[in-house]
Amino acid sequence: MTATARFLLPAEAYWSEEWFALEQRALFGRTWWFVGPVSDVPSDGRPVVVEVGDQFVAVHRDASGRLQAQGLGGRRAAVDVWAGFVFVHADAEVAEPLADWLGDLPANIGTFRPDELVEVAHCRFEVASNWKLYIENHIDVYHLWYLHEQSLADYDHPRHRWRSCGSHWAFYEPPREGVADAAQFVRGFPPISHIDRDDWGSGAHLIFPNLPFATGAGFFMTYQCLPRGPRHTTIDLRVRAEPGDDHDVDAFVAMVSTVLHAEDGLACERIQAAVRSPDFAVGPLAAAHELPITHFHERLLDRVGR
Ligand SMILES: [Fe+2]
Repeated sequence: MTATARFLLPAEAYWSEEWFALEQRALFGRTWWFVGPVSDVPSDGRPVVVEVGDQFVAVHRDASGRLQAQGLGGRRAAVDVWAGFVFVHADAEVAEPLADWLGDLPANIGTFRPDELVEVAHCRFEVASNWKLYIENHIDVYHLWYLHEQSLADYDHPRHRWRSCGSHWAFYEPPREGVADAAQFVRGFPPISHIDRDDWGSGAHLIFPNLPFATGAGFFMTYQCLPRGPRHTTIDLRVRAEPGDDHDVDAFVAMVSTVLHAEDGLACERIQAAVRSPDFAVGPLAAAHELPITHFHERLLDRVGR
């Protein structure tokens, strides 16, 4: 793995139809794809159909309640579950077990057990940028200091730590000293009773290629990036919390929308607007803090064979 940040993708990877089609086929069609919590799949055998790259995969429960997946083109698909979340793979021939694919990522996200939480919010927002810009922004440590200067001011950015876990990425930063009062961190949500207090900071992770997820004292949320076109991404946000009726969901979703949409989304749209300029040059600003982007590019280029 490269030790200094370099951006490896050409500018056209962010705007060309050809790159988009290549990723649909060679990346999303050949890796594990997040479907949602197991509760999404009806118990009566009706299927859930998901678009995985340029294919459709149907997931249903058989008579014994086990999950089954089938590509609608007839190809055998694979289905597996991690932490109460269903994933499918459009090509069972090349699918490794989901646990092998996730590797040591689950061991690096703290003590959260999302399958013991319930979904309290599910919403979508649109970003007029390539899906990779959203991922790169997510794993760009440097942006915490300026883009979220106020919205994430309670966290101690200099004390962050991150690691690459196979193709995936794990990140954690603790609350700042002096704002250690729990109320500062739960953001309207009671702390999850099963997690360690050491996990009350800001966790931000990536299941390669397109599933960012984040944790805090009171929540576990996924925000899958659904590529709609070379310059259009839908973010599918799903928030889980401890069962109970004392959650201020509206306030929480408003806070999350500020961070993930108004701030992160807008930054991506600005970069997207510049990416076709002849003056556009890709290059990192921070050698260490943007190293995860280099790793992301390496994994992506491996997949698409460029
Ligand atoms: Fe961000």
